[in-house]
Amino acid sequence: MTIGIIGLGYVGLTFAIAAADKGITVYGVEKEKRIKQSLAGGQAHFFEPGLDDKIKECMGRKFFCVEEFPRDVQFDAFMITVGTPLIGQTKEPNFDYIVSSLKAFRNVYSGRELVILRSTVSVGTSRNVVLPRLQEMAEDSGCAPMIAMCPERTVEGKALVELTSLPQVVSGNSPQAVKMSHKLFKQITSKVIEAESLEEAELIKLYCNIYRDMNFALGNVLNVAAQTFGLDGISVIRNANEGYARSNIASPGFVAGPCLEKDAYILMNNMQEGKSKDFIYAARRFNESLEDDVVCWVERKIGAPAQEKELLLTGMAFKGVPETSDLRGSSSVYIARKLKDKGYKLRLHDFVARREELQELNLGEVYDDLNEACEGIAGMLALNNCSRYHTFHFTQGMEGVRILDIWDCCDELKEREERDTIGNMLIEEKI
Ligand SMILES: NC(=O)c1ccc[n+]([C@@H]2O[C@H](COP(=O)([O-])OP(=O)(O)OC[C@H]3O[C@@H](n4cnc5c(N)ncnc54)[C@H](O)[C@@H]3O)[C@@H](O)[C@H]2O)c1
Repeated sequence: MTIGIIGLGYVGLTFAIAAADKGITVYGVEKEKRIKQSLAGGQAHFFEPGLDDKIKECMGRKFFCVEEFPRDVQFDAFMITVGTPLIGQTKEPNFDYIVSSLKAFRNVYSGRELVILRSTVSVGTSRNVVLPRLQEMAEDSGCAPMIAMCPERTVEGKALVELTSLPQVVSGNSPQAVKMSHKLFKQITSKVIEAESLEEAELIKLYCNIYRDMNFALGNVLNVAAQTFGLDGISVIRNANEGYARSNIASPGFVAGPCLEKDAYILMNNMQEGKSKDFIYAARRFNESLEDDVVCWVERKIGAPAQEKELLLTGMAFKGVPETSDLRGSSSVYIARKLKDKGYKLRLHDFVARREELQELNLGEVYDDLNEACEGIAGMLALNNCSRYHTFHFTQGMEGVRILDIWDCCDELKEREERDTIGNMLIEEKI
């Protein structure tokens, strides 16, 4: 099979390489110069285990990063993997990138190729936004366009493993579209699930993430409730779960990243008003509120901003396990913005995120070395759960430094009096 992918971001590039590795010929187009330059050097523009080696193996053999799709190649399918960001305060999804992405294959589209939507969209977008435009594009061919919604459900940090092991949900606007999308994904993974409709596939994708959002919200609600009784939330959850399979209460923490911060809003975008929507919204808002709790902790424990009171925020990527360099949708970044807006002077550190991307945030001085970053600070906020914190040896002593070790990861600092975690950071305020 030969496919063309529009967008070589996180989803497009990992899929392109997984497909090329399974023998599918993949042409990819990408509009960002820095991504193309990075790929030309055999590297992804983000950290993903195993990806760079595979790029080097596949590039120029089965994977071709091109300026435009070649006219002399017969494509079986085009796959759209462009971003679907939320806009401003209203958090409505923007599908303009999807609409413009159709231009990328307009010149080589005959109307007979399958068009696969892999980006995350509101229910109905494949049929109501994309399909009519394909019909226009195929008007002269006399063909009825085939569209498939085949959502991406892998976790960042394990994409290559999961793309070839997770069940892939496929769908289509006709039996032929379903058959073709099934055939494509069957070359990559062993289990393919045929959704009943495009809309079912869209909803499955969204709700898989909302399910996680809500599950994490349950842990976060208990954590906050426990602290109103003066109890440590982490301890309550750990002991509630211990040996008791019917309770699998999630550990408290930020629920963030480019998918979880968005998908509830993408679903709610055109969902009927009512109790289901209210419930989804409440869970999302609760998870988001943890960022303000951290800001309150800083104000209480460190006091008003002052030149000499520098704060170190470490763990800027949206999660630490599996490791990722991704700063998109990261609660750490939102917290840094809120603190900077209040006038705090910040230092930033991350074990995995790229220095240039941290610098681009323009939120504070970036440090590569955590010990160097700790020198002379008033407070340290360890904001993600990177496993490297467990064994990290702090050489600065950290006397007098207020520590918020959100995920209870910095083993060497556990006995410190002036250290809090997400499990007790609200206690003084609530009791
Ligand atoms: N990141 C994830 O883990 C993940 C997981 C599941 C689903 N998704 C969804 O998949 C979609 C893509 O996510 P992502 O993280 O890969 O986003 P991304 O921003 O990393 O990638 C999109 C890429 O498309 C490129 N692009 C946009 N318009 C283009 C055009 N017309 N021609 C060529 N290139 C174009 C952009 O420059 C960008 O590099 C989103 O809808 C997202 O919600 C993401």
